[in-house]
Amino acid sequence: MFSKHVLYFSLARLALGQLDAIPTGFDTDRWAWWSNEDPLLAVIPGQFNRTLWDTSSAANVSDERVQAINDHVNQSSFVAYDERFFDIIGPKATVEQLQVLPFQVHEASCYIPETGQLFFIEWGPPGGVNGSHDWQYLLDVKTNDLTRIQTNPPTWNVHGCVYQNGKLHVVTDGGPDETPYLATIDPYTLERKTILNNYFEQPFISFNDLELDREGNYYLTDSYSGWGRSLHPYAAPTSPTVYFVNGTTLRIKPLTFLYPGNANGITLSPDGKTLYLADTGASDSSQKPGVRRDNYPRDLWAWDFATSSNGEKLPLLTNQRLISRAIQYFYDGIRVSRNGWLFGAGGETVDVLDPESGWTLGSIRVGGGGNDPVNIAFGKHEMRIIGKGGVWHVKNIRERLDKRWT
Ligand SMILES: *[C@@H]1O[C@H](CO)[C@@H](O)[C@H](O)[C@H]1NC(C)=O
Ligand SMILES: *[C@@H]1O[C@H](CO)[C@@H](O)[C@H](O)[C@H]1NC(C)=O
Ligand SMILES: *[C@@H]1O[C@H](CO)[C@@H](O)[C@H](O)[C@H]1NC(C)=O
Ligand SMILES: *[C@@H]1O[C@H](CO)[C@@H](O)[C@H](O)[C@H]1NC(C)=O
Ligand SMILES: *[C@@H]1O[C@H](CO)[C@@H](O)[C@H](O)[C@H]1NC(C)=O
Repeated sequence: MFSKHVLYFSLARLALGQLDAIPTGFDTDRWAWWSNEDPLLAVIPGQFNRTLWDTSSAANVSDERVQAINDHVNQSSFVAYDERFFDIIGPKATVEQLQVLPFQVHEASCYIPETGQLFFIEWGPPGGVNGSHDWQYLLDVKTNDLTRIQTNPPTWNVHGCVYQNGKLHVVTDGGPDETPYLATIDPYTLERKTILNNYFEQPFISFNDLELDREGNYYLTDSYSGWGRSLHPYAAPTSPTVYFVNGTTLRIKPLTFLYPGNANGITLSPDGKTLYLADTGASDSSQKPGVRRDNYPRDLWAWDFATSSNGEKLPLLTNQRLISRAIQYFYDGIRVSRNGWLFGAGGETVDVLDPESGWTLGSIRVGGGGNDPVNIAFGKHEMRIIGKGGVWHVKNIRERLDKRWT
């Protein structure tokens, strides 16, 4: 009896501290406010511990008031660290799980507005044939019908996708009999056309993700992930590299490389002048004997593009800076919204970051308990999150998220 009474009292105290900071109109069940102005979070009483793989609310804590904060955060859909997060998300937003899928990586999400479909893939082992997949998923967002599709000809191990100019632009890891390539898929006929499969006759390692600029030029991350999981039988010819590919001439040039580390999610600022890259060197899937894993990299980097003497954007990066090291886990898929906010999916959350200061503004949660966002696809005032455990819909977001062009 007594201990129950104490717990009730401490929950009420917590409610005062944490919920007072949530603006009126925001549902205190869906929202949490995390600030070191709360003395319980600035100086945690008793014992506490967590690894970099666990989200902060999954820490082991001995103090029951801190545990109550953690339980509240775990049950919340939105966790704000900064007032601006309330403005970006708005009071009407909700998170709903659309599809329950295995705790297996799902990514390469592309929203096709014309057909109302979400394209995505299941990636790597334990699924597929020895981890290899020659099929993809299409989700009808109106009916929520999920179907498996095959392109013509079949495409092995798609890993990244961007929808632009009426086409799905995809990159692959390679497959049992082929090295990685860049391709387009027609969303109506599912016809696949290979665009580029080599760097001056050298195979790629295994593509992870891509971005396109407004002019249709490509930014590709060639990574250890698919090769590390033996999705193709070729040797890794080089270290993880970011390539620029001119969309008209297909002329290709490296922009940067990561070693130690691994090139993963990639995205551009709305004006195309800044490149963001997620380094996931800490991930197991980057690993094979001989690969360095120093310092477990899991960093979000930014660079600006250099300009020529007459002011044109060059395929050269300058001004490298660390936006942030993820609070937990690492960012896998990253995307920039219409107004430039950086969204990073990884671990239990999709985090929203300020691209200028690097502050993490807030986290979008999909329930914890093994549900892990891997990638995102923006609609207008909505986004879909895909990852380990399924597909989620975040709707009624205040900010417009989709690009100004498609
Ligand atoms: C803290 O967590 C780490 C990682 O699990 C573990 O190695 C360490 O023993 C823990 N420390 C204590 C005091 O529990
Ligand atoms: C948390 O506590 C559990 C149970 O005592 C223990 O198994 C686990 O290793 C702890 N984790 C950390 C990070 O200390
Ligand atoms: C899967 O991998 C095992 C071990 O390398 C191999 O023996 C088997 O033939 C593979 N199966 C297929 C269908 O490729
Ligand atoms: C791509 O190539 C075309 C044709 O040579 C050229 O006009 C254009 O400036 C190039 N774009 C970039 C970004 O290099
Ligand atoms: C968070 O909630 C989920 C779903 O209720 C549960 O499975 C998971 O164990 C919780 N996580 C923690 C760290 O309590």
